[in-house]
Amino acid sequence: MSVAQLPGLVDAHVHLREPGYEYKEDFATGTMAALAGGVTTVLDMPNTNPPTATPDRLAEKARLAAAKAVCDVGLFVGATHTEGDAYLPVAEQACALKIYVSDTFGSLRIDTLDLMHRLFRGWAEKADAVGYRMAGVGEGIGPITVHAEELMLPVCLCLSQLYAVPLHIAHVSRRNEIELIRVAKDRGVPVTCEVTPHHLFLSTDDLPRLGACGDMRPRLATPDDVAALWENLDVVDIFATDHAPHTLAEKGIGVEPARPAVPPGVPGVETMLPLLLTAAHAGLLDLGDIIERCYTAPRRIYGLPEQPDTWIEVDVDAGYELTNSSLKTKVGWSPFAGWRLYGRVERVVLRGAMVYAGGAVLAAPGSGRVLFAAL
Ligand code: DOR
Ligand code: ZN
Repeated sequence: MSVAQLPGLVDAHVHLREPGYEYKEDFATGTMAALAGGVTTVLDMPNTNPPTATPDRLAEKARLAAAKAVCDVGLFVGATHTEGDAYLPVAEQACALKIYVSDTFGSLRIDTLDLMHRLFRGWAEKADAVGYRMAGVGEGIGPITVHAEELMLPVCLCLSQLYAVPLHIAHVSRRNEIELIRVAKDRGVPVTCEVTPHHLFLSTDDLPRLGACGDMRPRLATPDDVAALWENLDVVDIFATDHAPHTLAEKGIGVEPARPAVPPGVPGVETMLPLLLTAAHAGLLDLGDIIERCYTAPRRIYGLPEQPDTWIEVDVDAGYELTNSSLKTKVGWSPFAGWRLYGRVERVVLRGAMVYAGGAVLAAPGSGRVLFAAL
């Protein structure tokens, strides 16, 4: 057994589903899954029901997370057509702003230039007043993170450039997108990006096998797109999972008759590190690449605080088959079930306390902190 000690990782893109979809996941189960994956900080998305679009809803979500979470949680606010930029007075209490301009799950899609212009201008004005948050300092606001595929990507790059607002591109999946982000970075646009494990390790070739369990937004891309992500890894700032649990029944598994429309998304927070360690085992990455993209860069981009006395211990040689029954996510499935993986999280220590060991979560509900919130 060869044990490596790594920092507690960050998953900068998860959907923990509370409030409104607790039957899929909640702050307890989602953060337990995070610890099992060596993740001690998650950043939670705003497309809940109701969406995290107003000061009251952000405060309510912070209370829910504070009562249940076993790892640290940052909360995104989201822009909506109905509430516009109502979140602005509490922007500093969110980890960042999320804007959806492409096909997604939930009601947060923005599709007018009027509103996009107002959202970027409002965020830039807020930053003029309070600044952008830097890692470890804790004051100011985070970046704008966008779900922007295909032609919506240059729209967002342009607004980011015009307003000098730091832009983070969620789940890049295609060759044309990663190549355009390289050009934008070379030209000085303040842009960073993330890639999910499912877009790195799965492609359209896997769809016949996975069916609805391979359906997410962005969709799985072609093998050439996957190759482009690996070729351009130097442009990829963050690995983040887009942990988006839906039940197997919602995916139409075991349900008759077959459902024409299923909600897009796959769980992933607890399988990211084992998959990346498996890639390292195969010589595609090294531990430094993982630490940079799952710790250093997300902390810098979102200005996350230090977690003192926090680390994870990983058996980098452990080989095993991933099974659904071993998972802590409430939905109990993974598109990677049946894969042979190398690398297992053995122990997690958060602020000096052993919170996960030997497959069991030891932390008490509510021992995780809600970052930036005024509780
Ligand atoms: O696959 C996805 N699932 N993409 C999204 O944009 C949303 C997410 C979800 O919340 O289920
Ligand atoms: Zn997402």
